[in-house]
Amino acid sequence: MAFDYTEGAAEGEVSLARARQAFEDVEFHPRVLRDVSIVDTSVEVLGGRSALPFGIAPIGFTRMMQTEGERAGAAAAGAAGIPFALSTMGTTSIEDVVAANPCGRNWFQLYMWKDRDRSMALVERAAAAGFDTLLVTVDVPVAGARLRDQRNGMTIPPTLTPRAVLNALARPRWWMDFLTTEPLAFASLDRWSGTVAELLDTMFDPTVSFEDLAWIKDQWPGKLVVKGVQSIQDAVRATDLGVDAVLLSNHGGRQLDRAPIPFHLLPDVVREVGDRTEVHLDTGITNGADIVAAVALGARFTLIGRAYLYGLMAGGRVGVQRAIAILAEQVERTMRLLGVSALEQLGPEHVTQLERLFARARCESEHVKRHYLDPPAP
Ligand SMILES: Cc1cc2nc3c(=O)[nH]c(=O)nc-3n(C[C@H](O)[C@H](O)[C@H](O)COP(=O)(O)O)c2cc1C
Repeated sequence: MAFDYTEGAAEGEVSLARARQAFEDVEFHPRVLRDVSIVDTSVEVLGGRSALPFGIAPIGFTRMMQTEGERAGAAAAGAAGIPFALSTMGTTSIEDVVAANPCGRNWFQLYMWKDRDRSMALVERAAAAGFDTLLVTVDVPVAGARLRDQRNGMTIPPTLTPRAVLNALARPRWWMDFLTTEPLAFASLDRWSGTVAELLDTMFDPTVSFEDLAWIKDQWPGKLVVKGVQSIQDAVRATDLGVDAVLLSNHGGRQLDRAPIPFHLLPDVVREVGDRTEVHLDTGITNGADIVAAVALGARFTLIGRAYLYGLMAGGRVGVQRAIAILAEQVERTMRLLGVSALEQLGPEHVTQLERLFARARCESEHVKRHYLDPPAP
């Protein structure tokens, strides 16, 4: 049940499969006879340095997957010199995340709830605790249909139904761990006995608009990222509001199914707003080479969701460290094989996208420019 919650996506899980396919369909174009004895994988992101061009994405209910949860993620991220993002639906408090990653960069992800005061109280707590960046997630006006959760009857926290007990027989270690460690305490909410989708629908506010984004921006003293942008037009609108980064993401395929592939949107969004704001990307990253391809097409930074969670589930903090190390090795090796020694040297000349999924041509078409971009001022 916990694995399906992590691995699964919405409806037919097409968004996620396509996003991964798009990375597989990258064709790299290396340059040879370059000195790549020393490779610098670090990048300037949102006013600070990150040792690698990726950070850990915000994840709800992390301690349900493995009880070390966010503490493991934050500590491993801090040790690797990359940012860690805590979700509004996280299972470790803001203060405990800082305790696990006292010297590194912590980012806070905000879901705007119907109860605005409660959401903003959380934001104030994050600012007071030294979180330097706020990610406002905008692709959840309602919950996506996570069919695996429905099938499994998954509740938060998991309840001991006969089906769950049957499921647990094969996985005694997970249950022992779950039942004998500190109970799940949410960063921001109390017990809930429905499915995740029901919980999201009760909490989230489908009226949230660009005006609310501007309002949040005024309240937040640090950097602000809008997470879940999926069109050129919305990227332009968010940039006009002065956000510090737009994060192209379809939530790891967990919201709208058959959504645009963030990697396909990337070059067009970079072209439209890349000189005014940072463009970040997530969804579908399973290899450091995916990250290199994204950087080559203009992404300043990327986030990893499941790639981090598989490490966490396999081995707690050590597992997360291993996952980060694997991705770091892949980034470094791919850079060397491409003939670049710093991320700034990567460019569109290093990557083409094979056209199996074909969205590239459509994005560049006149049709898209006419219908999805604001008309030029007269
Ligand atoms: C199990 C799980 C829980 C997630 N919870 C949240 C969340 O609470 N808030 C949020 O903004 N995004 C959430 N996401 C989306 C991630 O932040 C990120 O956008 C996504 O995982 C990227 O795709 P990837 O898993 O293919 O790397 C979640 C993703 C997963 C897999």
